[in-house]
Amino acid sequence: MDQAIDLKREYEATLARPRYAYSSGARIFFRSMDRLAGKEETLPKVRVIESLASIPYRAWESRQYGRIQRHYGDPGIVHDAQEILRYGRAAQDNEVQHLRIIEEKLRAEAVKDPRYMTRPLPELMSESYNLFSATLARLGIRRAFLLNAEFEDHAEHTYAELVQAHPEWEEAPVEDGHAVREYAAYHGLEGFASVADVFRRIGLDERDHRNASFAFAGMREYIVRYEGMPEVPGERSAAA
Ligand SMILES: [Fe+2]
Ligand SMILES: [Fe+2]
Repeated sequence: MDQAIDLKREYEATLARPRYAYSSGARIFFRSMDRLAGKEETLPKVRVIESLASIPYRAWESRQYGRIQRHYGDPGIVHDAQEILRYGRAAQDNEVQHLRIIEEKLRAEAVKDPRYMTRPLPELMSESYNLFSATLARLGIRRAFLLNAEFEDHAEHTYAELVQAHPEWEEAPVEDGHAVREYAAYHGLEGFASVADVFRRIGLDERDHRNASFAFAGMREYIVRYEGMPEVPGERSAAA
């Protein structure tokens, strides 16, 4: 299915599409990431984004196990919870792939860790996001889905702008690394034509995450469709 996807066309569609009108909570969150990692889209900055990206999915998982434990006799609830669980696990794996690819690229370029990446800031940030995501997943799962949709919309645009800021990536061959090889196979590809395509593919994953998060939040009208796209998890069921 992936072969039918035109990565360049979808990247241009992301650049042309306005960002979602972020809530004030999401804006505060993005601004604090900018304050930590800078306004410019860089590899160390997307690494910060990726180091936080899997946290909400873990919070959803834990809340859904709780629901199953309480309502195991209700097939409707169990079915909904399992759909969120399955998707949450797949999304976490995918975010870890992104993180490993960025790490591999930073190592290949011998980029030194920026000062903000030394302890305790990254731990502090991920711990507070952890706590916040867990609380939100408990108190208002729909708001949790929506906040993640905003996070993923922001990530999709960040990757598009990162590729745009690196015209040299258009011709740059992909260095052979374990993470990138695994990632190509995950998408059923033999490899990537350029470094730009690797990051375009990651950006499109973020669009898929964004779409699924909007679907789970019951906001299907925000799904951005494209040729060759996978089925959107949560689109057909009413998750709670
Ligand atoms: Fe990601
Ligand atoms: Fe994502």
